[in-house]
Amino acid sequence: MSALDLPEGFLFGASTSAHQTEGNNLASDAWVEEVRADSSMAQASGDACNSFERWRDDIDLVAEAGLNAYRFGAEWARVEPAQGRFSRAAVLHYRAMVEYSRSRGVEPVLTLHHFTSPAWFSARGGWLAPDAPALFVRYLDEMAPVIEAGIQMVVTINEPNILAVLATVRSGDQELLTGLGGALPPADPTLSTALIRAHEAARTALKSRFPQLDVGWSLASQAIRSVPGGEVAAAQYRESLEDTFLRPARDDDFIGVQSYSRAVFGPEGFMAPPGDASRTQTGWEYYPGALELAIRDAHAVVGPDTAILVTENGIATADDTERIAYTSGALEGMARAMADGIDVRGYLHWSLLDNYEWGSFDPTFGLVAVDPLTFDRHPKPSLSWLGRVASSGSLI
Ligand code: BGC
Repeated sequence: MSALDLPEGFLFGASTSAHQTEGNNLASDAWVEEVRADSSMAQASGDACNSFERWRDDIDLVAEAGLNAYRFGAEWARVEPAQGRFSRAAVLHYRAMVEYSRSRGVEPVLTLHHFTSPAWFSARGGWLAPDAPALFVRYLDEMAPVIEAGIQMVVTINEPNILAVLATVRSGDQELLTGLGGALPPADPTLSTALIRAHEAARTALKSRFPQLDVGWSLASQAIRSVPGGEVAAAQYRESLEDTFLRPARDDDFIGVQSYSRAVFGPEGFMAPPGDASRTQTGWEYYPGALELAIRDAHAVVGPDTAILVTENGIATADDTERIAYTSGALEGMARAMADGIDVRGYLHWSLLDNYEWGSFDPTFGLVAVDPLTFDRHPKPSLSWLGRVASSGSLI
């Protein structure tokens, strides 16, 4: 048994996002993309996990496992399905989620934007439109009753760095797409700047209305490392994908760290994992040590005044024993970083549910399986294991 030495009030729980679990987000840009006749997506989100109806079950699962935190998202497209037309019912829905979480002793961590935008917002230029920050802030204003119901930590935008990478992918620039030989292409700099602007506007608006609220955003961390000869490529990659987005977080209350695997650079650029490396269902190298590196990397840039919240960490696998082993290794690394004095406020496992993985339901990241016909929830052994780790503070 190894003790994690978690401080009082440490948040230990699980994460989901709105679009991946709710189902039928008809007014979102992702929905439009998924149902197009020539869509590149193998599967559409459809009913997803039907969490828009079953959200109480989800919160109950978290509480009954012995976990004390649940990160979930609000879907902007439900709150503002047409520009300037707000749904009071959607706001009350999310408010009820916050109230219910609190009544079950579960700290609700709210994500305001997780990859998907209202279709109308994307059609008019998305984040690149000059008034995008103002439109985002207006949505946040409408969400005030949700925050007032008991939100302490809010994530403005999930993985802006991946949004900016996707913009490079969409640009079709072959040099950029193939230049890194298998790694993610660089983040689009124009979109990166626009997202930073939107995040800063959101932070200013939220902090002026709710001075006690902890505001941050969450980044995909690649645990970038190099072997001799790969230092320059690794540094460029780190600047484009991570540091550009970590620096603005120096003025945030926390940074959300999201870690799954690592990226190693050598003299020829990105080094594919060795042939005998174990890979997960998404093809990523099985590397539990990534979380410790990701926490240390984020801390090195944001500095001691910005806390760290692990907003995602997990593995796509059909083997729940492997999920437990991976998570155990990741938590050991997190504990080492904390022992060195890094202020980590919580660990939120991705994901509570086997949910919609952006084009497919095949990769299973969940602590809980979901029956696609009845939407019944079937907890896996990893859920009760994680709950025991959270309550005991020890890896068992
Ligand atoms: C995203 C999640 C996604 C997960 C696994 C993160 O990039 O925030 O939406 O499901 O990684 O791919």
